[in-house]
Amino acid sequence: MMKREGSPMRHAAIVGWGEYTPPAVLSNEDLASVIDTSDDWITTRTGIKERRISHVPNADMATAAARRALAAADLAAEDMDLIVVATCSPDRAVPSVAAYVQRALGGLGATMDVNAACSGFIYALTVANGMIAAGNVNRALVIGAERLSSFLDFHDRTTAVLFGDGAGAVVVEASDGPEGLLSSNLHSDGSLTEILRIRGSGTEVVFDPDVPTTVDMEGREVFRNAVTRMGEAAVVAIDSAGLSIEDIDVLLSHQANVRIIDAMAKRLRVDSDHVYTNIHAYGNTSAASIPIALSEALDQGVIKPGDLIAMVAFGGGLTWGAAVVRWGDRIERLRESESGIPGTDKTGLELLAARVQGLGIE
Ligand code: ACO
Repeated sequence: MMKREGSPMRHAAIVGWGEYTPPAVLSNEDLASVIDTSDDWITTRTGIKERRISHVPNADMATAAARRALAAADLAAEDMDLIVVATCSPDRAVPSVAAYVQRALGGLGATMDVNAACSGFIYALTVANGMIAAGNVNRALVIGAERLSSFLDFHDRTTAVLFGDGAGAVVVEASDGPEGLLSSNLHSDGSLTEILRIRGSGTEVVFDPDVPTTVDMEGREVFRNAVTRMGEAAVVAIDSAGLSIEDIDVLLSHQANVRIIDAMAKRLRVDSDHVYTNIHAYGNTSAASIPIALSEALDQGVIKPGDLIAMVAFGGGLTWGAAVVRWGDRIERLRESESGIPGTDKTGLELLAARVQGLGIE
């Protein structure tokens, strides 16, 4: 656990932020047209109305989010000593998504991916902060990027409706001021590996060529653990920062299910006015959900100068963690990125049709 009380020490402050959400939308109605589900079931059980399906590789989404974050900080990739990407859906095992981001943007800093499933962004932010505190790096790009649609079995209604693609990024730099990461804590319970898995996505196919590629989840067990564990981690992070729950201006939770977020906020006695959600628009984007939410909350004026933000997440492993960030004075981007990804005129369903057999959308 990392904590910072009393006199400031070197730590990470967020100076740039950005997100990339793919243009192709897959609505609940689209899903209901090809699998046995309904907008009503998905909305009431999860809060999700639609999600995005990427027409480009994970690394392209990560790069687009990174470009926006760099522009917001008015910095260049060459200024980054580290690029760390939180992802569990890399395009390749090697090189990392982070290396591909560097290939696209330039620079010679260290690159690596971190896989802590949906908790990945808090893990990656904590890694970057630790390297800044140790004096290894001065500036880092911390990205959460996922293309989970590649792993979904669109015949399995219990999981296909939950996830979407996207990326979010922040630029952090060394600071000894009051703003930045005040505390964080990371956890994992390896005895719960089997309640949430993406099978058929690694070398296990060598041992079992018939293993299907699918997200495989004991939904209720994950739900129960998520509410308890995230709540506990948030309390520890807030306490370690020398704060109390009432001090928190914005609760930014991993966006997995609006009922999980509501139940956790209720346990913590955080008023719903202080809870930011955007799950209705993107579904669960795993490690990308917190940086996307952060970027959108800033754009929408939800985060104000000096605000205290509690970030909480849980994911496969089971991993979970929380971090408390004090925002600085600046809530505007210094610049906007001028280059982007060529769009697509395909819908989410049309993109799926190209690769999912047997859905009746070929
Ligand atoms: N459409 C219609 N019916 C459905 C669907 C669907 N998409 N999915 C399941 N059902 C049915 C089930 O078959 C079941 O029917 P039955 O009663 O006839 O057997 C019924 O709905 C209820 O199913 P439950 O699984 O009990 O539904 P529940 O209320 O638990 O909601 C959910 C399921 C949304 C998955 C919930 O358990 C949940 O959110 N769990 C946490 C999941 C989560 O957050 N995962 C993200 C972690 S991601 C990561 O870290 C990578």
